[in-house]
Amino acid sequence: FDAVDVIRTKRDGGAVPEEKLRWLVDAYTRGYVADAQMAAFAMAVLLNGMGREEIRVLTDAMIASGERMDFSGIGKRTTDKHSTGGVGDKITLPLAPLVAAYGVAVPQLSGRGLGHTGGTLDKLESIPGWRAALTNDEMMSQLAGPAGAVICAAGTGLAPADKKLYALRDVTGTVEAIPLIASSIMSKKIAEGTESLVLDVKFGSGAFMKDESRARELAETMVRLGTDSGVTTTALLTDMSTPLGLAVGNANEVRESVDVLAGGGPVDVVELTVALATEMLRMAGVDDADPADALADGRAMDSWRRMIEAQGGDADAPLPAPNETEVIRADRDGVITRIDAFGVGIAAWRLGAGRARAEDSVDHAAGIDLAVKPGDAVKRGDIIMTLGASEAGRFDRAADALVGAWEIGDTAPGPAPIVRDRI
Ligand code: URA
Repeated sequence: FDAVDVIRTKRDGGAVPEEKLRWLVDAYTRGYVADAQMAAFAMAVLLNGMGREEIRVLTDAMIASGERMDFSGIGKRTTDKHSTGGVGDKITLPLAPLVAAYGVAVPQLSGRGLGHTGGTLDKLESIPGWRAALTNDEMMSQLAGPAGAVICAAGTGLAPADKKLYALRDVTGTVEAIPLIASSIMSKKIAEGTESLVLDVKFGSGAFMKDESRARELAETMVRLGTDSGVTTTALLTDMSTPLGLAVGNANEVRESVDVLAGGGPVDVVELTVALATEMLRMAGVDDADPADALADGRAMDSWRRMIEAQGGDADAPLPAPNETEVIRADRDGVITRIDAFGVGIAAWRLGAGRARAEDSVDHAAGIDLAVKPGDAVKRGDIIMTLGASEAGRFDRAADALVGAWEIGDTAPGPAPIVRDRI
């Protein structure tokens, strides 16, 4: 086949036949199709879209570029969650051990943060001794054993075609194509070998998809892809216009997750954790459980300790705290009408909680602790949030990102449920 011919087909709005699409992905992964050609193809997809069958074939070809994990030998049902990313999104931390507390295995391959959204592995690496890199055998025995949940780094063997294509899209303005996002995410999740999957597809200022209708289209595309590939898949469409919980950073998000596992924690974090756990347990055949029970009675906390300790972490060790802090206070009496996820995410990133380049490290102690949520009444002088960093020199640029990112008004905003729909 000829790459130019495939590019022309997509450029002119046609559907690429299965064998040509499979060839393109394979030849690109091996280096026989040039980056320039694959970038032109990606742009043609962004502009002209792809049909359901083409998306399925593209995803399958990306899975076939690498290894596929198989947990059928562990003797447990498996389920997983993927979030499209948000600000303060620490949900995986309480969720994986919560679901494992019901005897369902959770093989959660996670990533690191880039830009204003954090990464689950970065958060967990705040815990002294905890390690993200596991071999496939270690992962398998942790899932089969008493821990039952594992959160670790995806090996380089899963969907290498996606790794190469995602990096190319990143520098060619072609990340935003729904068929490419859906196939990218789902190729990794299907190759991971889970039997069922819940997708937390976020919309709003702090999300990858700002717009609810695009998020819905992405969710529907991914649910179809999962289902077509034999993975039981559902999606929740969730609001990411304000940070989840009160903590945005790394160590502080672990602390908040532990509060949730201890039966407390912010209402929104608990609500979303329980909603996602309910989906996961139902898909794994546990219909009669209310996951809130295991948060209340300590089973989820026991499960967390087993999971952290299995990966070398000390669940009792003190977590890093920032050397320097600065508070932002209310400039009038009133009620909080808005705290913008994007502004808070950028500010936390500038404090050192996130990275600008993939090879940078993060400052586990840096971040933002909100003192209030939208709807809370405040008096002039009350603390709105506390910024933490290792050097005070970071506060000015972080504060710039917060200008206009929060608002005090006279009337409380209406209730804003997090879960907006189920697909
Ligand atoms: N996350 C991914 O893994 N891939 C995308 O294309 C977008 C977000």
